[in-house]
Amino acid sequence: MNKILIVDDEKNQRELISYILQKESYITQSSATAEEALNIIKNDEIDVLITDLKLPKMDGIQLLKEVSNISPETSVIIITGHGSIDSAVYAIKNGAFDYITKPLKKEQIILVTKKAIERTNLLKERKFLVSRISSKEAFEGMIGEHPLFKNVIKLILKIAPLDSTVLITGESGTGKEMVARAIHNISPRKNHPFIPVNCAALPENLIESELFGYLPGAFTGAIGRKKGIFEAASKGTIFLDEISEIPIQTQVKLLRFLQNKEIYPLGATTPTHVDVRIIAASNVDLEERIKNGKFRADLYYRLNIFSIKLPALRERSSDIPLLANYFLEKYRNLAQRENKFYTSGAIKKMLDYEWPGNIRELESVVQKAIILSDDEEINEDIISTILKIDSPLTHKNIETTNNAIKDRKTLEEIEKDLIIEALNKTGWNMSKASRILGITYRTLQYRLGKYGIKKPSDIP
Ligand SMILES: Nc1ncnc2c1ncn2[C@@H]1O[C@H](COP(=O)(O)OP(=O)(O)OP(=O)(O)O)[C@@H](O)[C@H]1O
Ligand SMILES: [Mg+2]
Repeated sequence: MNKILIVDDEKNQRELISYILQKESYITQSSATAEEALNIIKNDEIDVLITDLKLPKMDGIQLLKEVSNISPETSVIIITGHGSIDSAVYAIKNGAFDYITKPLKKEQIILVTKKAIERTNLLKERKFLVSRISSKEAFEGMIGEHPLFKNVIKLILKIAPLDSTVLITGESGTGKEMVARAIHNISPRKNHPFIPVNCAALPENLIESELFGYLPGAFTGAIGRKKGIFEAASKGTIFLDEISEIPIQTQVKLLRFLQNKEIYPLGATTPTHVDVRIIAASNVDLEERIKNGKFRADLYYRLNIFSIKLPALRERSSDIPLLANYFLEKYRNLAQRENKFYTSGAIKKMLDYEWPGNIRELESVVQKAIILSDDEEINEDIISTILKIDSPLTHKNIETTNNAIKDRKTLEEIEKDLIIEALNKTGWNMSKASRILGITYRTLQYRLGKYGIKKPSDIP
């Protein structure tokens, strides 16, 4: 049903227009001031706004400008006296749909309103189609039915078009990067770059030149001008993952950007204006970091304008079977036999488990189960075996990897640590260890030689 809002400080005029339109079976509402009208439009869907130009405080033109911002689909009709056609023309240049002149004529009101409704319906339909197409693509592969997850989707839809900074929080593996991509992909920036930056992985002395770029001679070895990620992402989105790990002095520069949209490439004395949206993510409690003096409160408030908290998998456990089946389908080709299925015991095992590594962990357990199960059935035992040998290790993996990143270990050192852990965990059973590590038996043997890892003499 189409809704019409009539704004006029003269009661008679309001009532007359309402009466005429109600007789045409439209739903009408009316208000005496522009301020009240704006409130109605913010909270309700109004298809056509009919407003007088002269109103007590905020006038009709100002109202028109506000409405075209907050509700571009609403068609605005201006009421004007014969003496003020000029202002009606001005209103049309500013986005009004049409105007009607006083003294009001019934036929004119009905005709102009009908056309305005047609325009609004067309715009609404187009908006619906566009949002359906783009969000369908953006949410592809994002699985979940639980209310907590649906709420996340709702928030994404609300926040995406607003161009504001977003902070995504949630445990490791809960889908933070996936959500950031979805926001970008349904935002007006979708045809421009989306650049993820892992703040924990960038060495402290490189982070600023990576982000902001540098001018020739900014430091020894800075030969040419190098554009940083901020300029490379122009008109797009930068995803600052593990934002908690940004050094304090870089936090100041990031804050400056969020306030002025300006950056200083290293060595520059004048700022460069850049147009990028920032989406940040953290799996640690930033407020705790603020208390410890590791994170600036002012930066936190700037980043946290909108925040999305991703639920842990165990909080939305009703989605576990759905996700497990989705991954089974996704990795079907890993197996010799195509028709794998879970027994109810297997599903129960998965439901009972805590999933410290969340969706990422579930995904990897399913991959392993597909490979380990010899026949079509993936049963409870297979899942238990994987979880038993795997779960302390998964915990450990996350810890090891996080610590390793902090200690700035090399990839080879991390790999060596993980191999030793897997071997210890499995009592030096090479085939089990290689399965956990996701490498072949031969590769494992090769790596043992490469890193000079030897079986301790006390293990049989
Ligand atoms: N709702 C979902 N449906 C299906 N797959 C998902 C969903 N959410 C996340 N995933 C998958 O889980 C894995 C982890 O997601 P993602 O990398 O976005 O998490 P994250 O929170 O950034 O993790 P980390 O903290 O470890 O960086 C990815 O492979 C992703 O495709
Ligand atoms: Mg991530």
